[in-house]
Amino acid sequence: MKTLEEMKEYLKKENAEYLLRFYDELSEIEKAELFKQIEHIDFELMKKLYDSRNIPPIKNKKIENITHEILEKIPQEERKKYCERGEELLRSNKVAVCQMAGGQGTRLGYNGPKGTFEVNLKEPKTIFEIFADKLKESCEKYNVNIPWYIMTSKENNDETISFFEQHNYFEYGKENIKFFIQRELPLLDYDGNFIFAEKSKIFMAANGNGGIYEALHRENILKEMKEKQIDYLAIGNVDNILMDMLEPTFIGMMDLKNKELAVKTVTKVSPEERVGVICKMDGKPGVVEYTEISEEMANMRDEDGNLKFGEAYFGFVMFRRELLDKIVKDLDYRPARKKNSYIDKNGEHITSDVPNTYKFEMFIFDGFEIADDMLALSVKREENFAPIKNKDGVDSPATAIDLYNNYYNNKKTENL
Ligand code: UTP
Repeated sequence: MKTLEEMKEYLKKENAEYLLRFYDELSEIEKAELFKQIEHIDFELMKKLYDSRNIPPIKNKKIENITHEILEKIPQEERKKYCERGEELLRSNKVAVCQMAGGQGTRLGYNGPKGTFEVNLKEPKTIFEIFADKLKESCEKYNVNIPWYIMTSKENNDETISFFEQHNYFEYGKENIKFFIQRELPLLDYDGNFIFAEKSKIFMAANGNGGIYEALHRENILKEMKEKQIDYLAIGNVDNILMDMLEPTFIGMMDLKNKELAVKTVTKVSPEERVGVICKMDGKPGVVEYTEISEEMANMRDEDGNLKFGEAYFGFVMFRRELLDKIVKDLDYRPARKKNSYIDKNGEHITSDVPNTYKFEMFIFDGFEIADDMLALSVKREENFAPIKNKDGVDSPATAIDLYNNYYNNKKTENL
């Protein structure tokens, strides 16, 4: 470890001596922790990311439309074939699920991992419990134990695990659930300075859901899948309470069409809707964010009058394991503006009602380019998409609860 003098010298070169601002107030353990944190910072990378914060990552990339299939339009016979194949794969334990739960959930403003947020359904349940119940149904139906991997961040890992412990792993079986931690990066304020979460801690946060690829390798999840002869991994956001991660038709369709990568999509409600859409990027599968698509492109229509870039990626993707094995290098980082409370370089406590920090994130869909093509299956929005992102307004607990209740009430009526 560096001496104090060496550290001062080191930080001077990086113009970041302020990271020792609270040094004298810290305990010996905290001092050592702070040094360790500083030594892990890649100053060159952080400078590069800050300097390129206004350059859209898709600059110079060729964006074209990509074909998709519409579930509703697939003939019944064909669907049945896919469904049977999917069920066969599930029964023979060829599919595992992974939830990405390492996000900060700043928009929801809830104090704790988002999966522990209680949704006020008729019978209130936390998000994790909703997923556990759904997954348990599949395990029972196919008479298997389906591995459930959960990606956390350093920030929320301990809290997530103790939540599962307190709830006896929702009777899913501790041995069937594995938590793994993604890497993190420092946050920066809008002037490009590092900030503090506490006097002894530089503010770090998970490196975006694209951090999943490196974490799956590092934490030996892919190795474990291989040992268990699991061929497919269904990966989804933690915050969509209508997401069915193990729907057999989709799984069977991907398999019978011999695709290594498959996403479900929903059709955009309007050109302005703030969602990322699937596309071809330099000839490979990709997603273009709503912040990055031009107004002209967002409004382009095909000969049938449908939006040319009208299929929204909503955070659910399936990979063949071998494809994940191939994604080894880091993806590009993108700047996300997030609202955080922090201590700034001058020692001031900063809080804000609007985003005030840069978090640099990799996005999972930037890894899709590794595949030559992908299956995109457009499904009914009201059956698949009820996200909890914001505290109120669109995509909030209130809207998600309505969507969830509507779906299950309709299902009940259908079954009568
Ligand atoms: P979001 O983009 O909605 O981000 O994540 P978020 O951090 O949850 O929420 P905000 O933007 O701060 O309000 C989409 C999915 O990706 C996961 C989230 O947990 C969510 O399931 N995610 C996001 C990670 O697992 N790690 C990350 O670093 C970021």
